[in-house]
Amino acid sequence: MPDPEAVKEGKRFYEDVPMKTPGFFLKGSGALDWGMRNRLARIFNPKDAHTVMLAIDHGYFQGPTTGLERVDLNIVPLVSHCDALMLTRGILRSTIPPACAQPIVMRASGGASILKELSNEELAVDIEDAIRMNVSALAIQVFIGGEFETRSVHNMTRLVDLGLRYGIPVMAVTAVGKDMARDAKYFRLACRICAELGAHVVKTYYVPQGFDTITASCPVPIVMAGGKKLPELDALTMAYNAIQEGAAGVDMGRNIFQSDFPVGMIKAIRKVVHENMKPAEALEYYKTLKAKKA
Ligand code: 5RP
Repeated sequence: MPDPEAVKEGKRFYEDVPMKTPGFFLKGSGALDWGMRNRLARIFNPKDAHTVMLAIDHGYFQGPTTGLERVDLNIVPLVSHCDALMLTRGILRSTIPPACAQPIVMRASGGASILKELSNEELAVDIEDAIRMNVSALAIQVFIGGEFETRSVHNMTRLVDLGLRYGIPVMAVTAVGKDMARDAKYFRLACRICAELGAHVVKTYYVPQGFDTITASCPVPIVMAGGKKLPELDALTMAYNAIQEGAAGVDMGRNIFQSDFPVGMIKAIRKVVHENMKPAEALEYYKTLKAKKA
């Protein structure tokens, strides 16, 4: 029987007590196999356990998104500034130079477009093809509370099994339906389910109230999704707050590639994520880079 009392709001998250990380620098990853940890160490910088991932996978359900119309022109010049690149195999093979040194986080789910119910996804990449493309992690959408919740969770658990077989970590992406509440209670539920069922990393949205309870109650690293385009200061502030509240990094797309000066924005995000630079200072840094370019 479900027990609603068992998930009531409480004060037992110990947000100020970081989880110990014996055996490896990343939370919850110490018992993983060597290949798995090696791949995670390519995505997360072992010096600070943080990452700046650049997400450009939007086309898998919404076509040529603003800023991604020409990945060859708009994104390829940005790639060397990220710690990891999250994208589909189609864009990787067609457009990203194979000499790219950045680790690849490959989207492995798909099947629904913006014209239909988005939670109706399937696995969309064969594990052997992921290995051929030398990916460092696989990413998959999980729709907790969505119409096809069970299917998406099953997709994830299947992918985790395949990933474990070959040493490839899986990043679960918590997807929120249009009419669902985006609050800490929901994201605690979604992130924890993903981790309990085997995800090695969870990507989720920032919430202004209680984000630290989401990171504290998730036993694997959380990276923050960017969401829709915000003014630069707001995006830098969101990234700063997420890191201060326990995120292991960001996986941002539109707030970088839809910025007036994407290279400056990703460099400013890096300052926030890897150097704890305050948002106002990072904005000045962004403006200086932009002025120099002009
Ligand atoms: C959703 C994703 C995208 O990669 C994610 O939305 C990141 O991009 P943005 O920062 O633009 O939200 O996982 O399918």
